[in-house]
Amino acid sequence: MAGSVVSIAETGSTNADLLADIDWPEGRWLRADRQTAGRGRLGRGWSSPMGNLHASTVVALNPGDPPAAGLALLAGVALAEALSLFVPAGAPLMLKWPNDLLLNGAKLAGVLLERSGERVVVGLGVNLAHAPILPERPTTSLAEIAPPPAPEVLADVVADRFSTWLARWRREGIGPVRSAWLSRAHPIGTAITVSESGDTGLFDGLAEDGALRLRRANGSIAVVRAGDVRVAA
Ligand code: BTN
Repeated sequence: MAGSVVSIAETGSTNADLLADIDWPEGRWLRADRQTAGRGRLGRGWSSPMGNLHASTVVALNPGDPPAAGLALLAGVALAEALSLFVPAGAPLMLKWPNDLLLNGAKLAGVLLERSGERVVVGLGVNLAHAPILPERPTTSLAEIAPPPAPEVLADVVADRFSTWLARWRREGIGPVRSAWLSRAHPIGTAITVSESGDTGLFDGLAEDGALRLRRANGSIAVVRAGDVRVAA
């Protein structure tokens, strides 16, 4: 299985660790049983108790690589594929732009990308055994619908799926990643609100670089490159 995983008992944040050790080899992952200062997107924290998956790796950008923005979708696709092996058939597992994973409409997993020069740290958090209770949005854990795998078991599968998709992205560009993402995401036409601006409209697919296209009621298209969106239940 491609990709190797180094496991440790506890750290502040596996993303912070790899940013501090940025020459960490591509293909190797760092997984912590628990994090004491887990980081989420948009400056949020990430609750990281024992029993959940917290793991990060580094992508070393090469001059011939497709634009790095595509890594956000790629990480979501790799994680969704890995998780789909552990959820019951037909379970409503869905990607939400750019790379949140929702189960029954509640947040199951998230991805944090942090760039340092020509290297990108990719961190994944999955609520396997526990879900934090958050005031601003619903969360869930895999344990709520099925016996979850041990974090180290899921980590091995994630490492494998990620390295397969990374090689494909380098070989074939963003196209196959985009298609795989769209096949696992909210359908075109889903009602969407951009959290930061409050802009609302219908999901109109992805721009070439993976940005979200939002069709407003007046027919104009907004292209959203950063931030968070809410989808209709
Ligand atoms: C999100 O807000 O949706 C992204 C959450 C990413 C959490 C993971 S856990 C492993 C890695 N280390 C961190 O501190 N954050 C990421």
